[in-house]
Amino acid sequence: MNSATGTSFAKIILIGEHAVVYGQPAIALPVPTIRLTASLTPRNDAAQLIHTSYFTGALSDSTATDFAGIAALVTALLAHFEATNQGFELTIQSQLPAERGMGSSAATATAIIRAFYAAFATPLARPTLLQWAAVSEKAIHGNPSGLDAATTSAVVPQWFVRGQAPTPIAFPAAGSLVIADTGLLGQTKRAVAAVAALRKAQPAQCSAHLSAIGAAVRRAALGLAQSDLPSLGAALDTAQGELAALGVSAPALDRLIQAAKGAGALGAKLTGSGQGGCMIALADTPAAAARIEAALQATGATQTWRHDFAESEEPA
Ligand code: MEV
Repeated sequence: MNSATGTSFAKIILIGEHAVVYGQPAIALPVPTIRLTASLTPRNDAAQLIHTSYFTGALSDSTATDFAGIAALVTALLAHFEATNQGFELTIQSQLPAERGMGSSAATATAIIRAFYAAFATPLARPTLLQWAAVSEKAIHGNPSGLDAATTSAVVPQWFVRGQAPTPIAFPAAGSLVIADTGLLGQTKRAVAAVAALRKAQPAQCSAHLSAIGAAVRRAALGLAQSDLPSLGAALDTAQGELAALGVSAPALDRLIQAAKGAGALGAKLTGSGQGGCMIALADTPAAAARIEAALQATGATQTWRHDFAESEEPA
């Protein structure tokens, strides 16, 4: 093992969360200004030490903690590289808020997998990376679509359908997203389980909501392709109505969404698993984005970010 680092980005689901678990398409974008780094350093002794904001200690002591899913991934990677007894320090430095719908667990997995492959000087193909990320995502979320890992490991926005290779999707040069955090945890496992329970109890209604989200995703893709921001905004609003009907919105999200709309957002919705976490609002100009951001802060958002679509272009 050599010393190595791996990086990944926060992800924002533009549209399609939850329905993507059941085969509908989704559109998500990496936010390269919010990043996570995993640093792996070999030790001369056999100690295997983890340093993160939510767990510090020996890998073997992490199995009953919030780090357990990631620990399962690290253990599997060590076995894969025939380095089960290799001593190391693994340090995670993250700018992502945890459990707020920004893909913190998938970003952690992505950066760790990249650090391990770099530490063992092994090339890493994207499908292999996504297969590895599924190890911890399954342990943490139960039934992940794979969207979060596909986006935290990407540099440009992604069109994603479960079971298929993610593909880049072009965004218009104009338009901005304002992202706001309710400050409440949005646990993916709980929200995904709530939709699964509704699907069992009310299959026809649930399936209609999931299909309506899929249709809104397709309209959003058309809006992106035609640089038609009002129609993209309308698709975001439709998706929010369907997500609320699925029971994954929350009063704190609804308040921020209303404030954003009141301040001129073309569309606004929760992003990620919901029941807490973050929301997004679409603005047509930087000035409109600034007004929306101020309104969200005045309505109690604990943190806000801006992402201009121009930042989503393929790096030169
Ligand atoms: C969570 O970020 C997105 C969900 O659609 C779950 C998934 O796709 O695995 C809620």
